Amino acid sequence: MDITALPVWKKLQDLAGGMRSRKLAQMFAEDPKRAERYSLETPYFLMDYSKNFIDEQVLQALLELARETDLEGWREAMFQGECINRTEGRPVLHAALRGSVGESVTSAGQIVSRQVEVELERLKEFVNLLHNGGIRGCDGSPITDVVNLGVGGSHLGPQMAVEALRPYWQGGVRVHFVSNVDGAQLQNTLEGLRPESTLFLVSSKTFTTIETLTNARSALAWLGDLAPEAELLQRHFAAVTANPERAQELGIADRFTFRFWDWVGGRFSLWSAIGLPVAIAIGFGGFRALLDGAASMDRHFREVPLAENAPVLLALMSLWNCTFMGWPALAVLPYEQALHMLPAYLQQAEMESNGKSTTRAGEEAAYATGPLIWGQLGINGQHAFYQYLHQSPEVVPADFIGSVRPGHGLETHHEILLANLLAQSQALMSGVSRERVAAELRNSGLPAERVEELVPFKVHRGNRPSNTILLRGLDPQSVGALIALYEHKIFCQGAILQIYSFDQWGVELGKGLASALQPKLRSGDLAGEDGSTARLIEYYRRKNPGETLKVAG
Ligand code: F6P
Repeated sequence: MDITALPVWKKLQDLAGGMRSRKLAQMFAEDPKRAERYSLETPYFLMDYSKNFIDEQVLQALLELARETDLEGWREAMFQGECINRTEGRPVLHAALRGSVGESVTSAGQIVSRQVEVELERLKEFVNLLHNGGIRGCDGSPITDVVNLGVGGSHLGPQMAVEALRPYWQGGVRVHFVSNVDGAQLQNTLEGLRPESTLFLVSSKTFTTIETLTNARSALAWLGDLAPEAELLQRHFAAVTANPERAQELGIADRFTFRFWDWVGGRFSLWSAIGLPVAIAIGFGGFRALLDGAASMDRHFREVPLAENAPVLLALMSLWNCTFMGWPALAVLPYEQALHMLPAYLQQAEMESNGKSTTRAGEEAAYATGPLIWGQLGINGQHAFYQYLHQSPEVVPADFIGSVRPGHGLETHHEILLANLLAQSQALMSGVSRERVAAELRNSGLPAERVEELVPFKVHRGNRPSNTILLRGLDPQSVGALIALYEHKIFCQGAILQIYSFDQWGVELGKGLASALQPKLRSGDLAGEDGSTARLIEYYRRKNPGETLKVAG
């Protein structure tokens, strides 16, 4: 389907043209019900999308685009387990991990929901045993530290959720994360840990990722001569993977191998056994609550009409801003320390999904398929890059994310934080006019000449769109619902814009080149390399003489 040929596509382009001259603040002044009209509540959050360049015409046209591109059909196909990830020949069933697909959905002859429950039961037993001191190292010491070795989807989701749910940590067993093949991270993490009481969790869907496997080998070496290698692997290692055979080949015990399936995309795998670090940190009950929160968003997404559907509307706002208004980035700005990893998590979730330029028909997309996602904690950003958000010529739409209830008892801190969140989205929308700046400067007693001089520097054009998501709290259910909201938003954008959101061919090229280049760092054989790469390797070798390269394996 060529969506650009749809009449509604052209209509949206025309509407975008008209919207560019409108003023957001004026739209609020003209419609006292605007905030009510363009916001919605779910059990876990309020989502306010009123500070976008939309009106009824725009919204209706966006919804028409969603219908014309059969968003509802694609949504149902996903929940029914149809093979919607066609380039990889797989269904997309992360919703099954939180109990959101029926028993009729099968894969390789197995009822998916039953497979999920069996694995969850295994996780539960493992977590409980771990907390009861029943999992012991080679010398009989109870395991006190679990180090997750994994990268991308096998790292970002679990660490993001562990950090977000800090008030729910159970204590007893500490959880650590090593994602980088840069040995510094592994070394720093292992400092202060005792090999006798440390367990490594090798988390890798494919079990072929070089960063993770290299870290696993170095971790094994760190355990030293506590016991013969085979015993170390059986007692100090566990695996989470969709490729259990490879974990077995490495020597990890079957009872410590937790599996998930190829119908779970890596960046959507938090809800599977990949979430084991979360279950360890907050207990299995807490992990279930996280799944329940996500399941409630699944129900909302599947059942609520498009016009009141949170993920659909969030997707439509993003698509409107990026594809039609022409603003190619989206800043993710959490105002909760607990959510400090959310921008990094969403960067992978969204950019690995929709950062593509080929449509489902195999053709070049003639439109922007998704924004560049970036951001960090809003309050820190205020003292760093918000200058750009307020006064650069570029418009960067933003998602502000906060929580009504803090995860701590310092009420005043929380009020300051929330006031800042509200102030920033307001300032981005309203700006400050020339006239107001001039009046304020005059009132401060400055001479007219100086006022004239300073005015252009202090004007904020405003008119910069944003969404605000205010969670009821930072409890596991709310965090689960928030993550699932974004997952479904990503799905909607891809479905409407004709993108296969669940493959990631774009990450393969660099991986292949890296494995071809690694031996050249040692050999210095630069034949066939481009001039720049050859020059960099030559410098590297010149400054790294001798045999200082100690690469694991
Ligand atoms: O970076 C590409 C990628 O394939 C991601 O999609 C995935 O989350 C990550 O690598 C890790 O892969 P694995 O879990 O197979 O080690």
